[in-house]
Amino acid sequence: ATRQAVIAGNWKMNKTRPEAKALIEEMIPLVKDADCGVIICVPYTNLETAIAATKGTNIKVGAENCHWAKSGAFTAEVSADMLKEVGVEYVIIGHSERRQYFGETDVTVNQRVRAALDAGLKVILCVGELLNEREQGITEEICSMQTKIALAGVSKEEMKDIIIAYEPVWAIGTGKTATADQADEVCGAIRGVIAKLYDDATAQATTIQYGGSMNAKNADELLGKVNVDGGLIGGASLKAPDFAAIIAAA
Ligand code: G3H
Repeated sequence: ATRQAVIAGNWKMNKTRPEAKALIEEMIPLVKDADCGVIICVPYTNLETAIAATKGTNIKVGAENCHWAKSGAFTAEVSADMLKEVGVEYVIIGHSERRQYFGETDVTVNQRVRAALDAGLKVILCVGELLNEREQGITEEICSMQTKIALAGVSKEEMKDIIIAYEPVWAIGTGKTATADQADEVCGAIRGVIAKLYDDATAQATTIQYGGSMNAKNADELLGKVNVDGGLIGGASLKAPDFAAIIAAA
């Protein structure tokens, strides 16, 4: 890829605080010479631990979601301002597990993106098709629609704070990876959507990651594609040597 790659870990619902601290400490020396951006997105309970443990290193910290409202009666939710105040820099929005298990829609994804940007957070926006959508040949339409709705009301200037992660849902946690050509094709199509919404320079500058069973073995080929600017890593980000190997391939 021509843009600087960004490798982000998504820990999902894993690691207690002592486990988080130990994993980060193991990770720091392995990734310190990274040639790419390095982010770890961790559960809310681990944010302060992760921020303290990564201080002065090249590892940046993100949360895995945020609510769209500034505050209010939304039991168990966390606002973008709360994350910002803790010292969080990034937030994942629209992960397929949120869409699949927690009823998030394109519209609430857009509201969350807006709230995150307003709070001064950078966003990793996830889009991706289901298996039956790929089989129906509507992958690009689905990813294009999700991208357009999520970015409604986001200005060209704000696009510097948006990373897009293309994550085919059928490839997440399944050990089934998209081929490098499939990943490149859809990341390229999403880049085309950005070009239409904004302009070519913005499209060329936007980091578009691939996610879905990316690991130390397949990272090299995926990251070698011109439209794949990094990865959003689930399972393999929970093992320091594996995460470091993906970072070394970027
Ligand atoms: O956010 C990360 C993705 O859902 C990928 O997860 O690497 O475990 O397939 P995975």
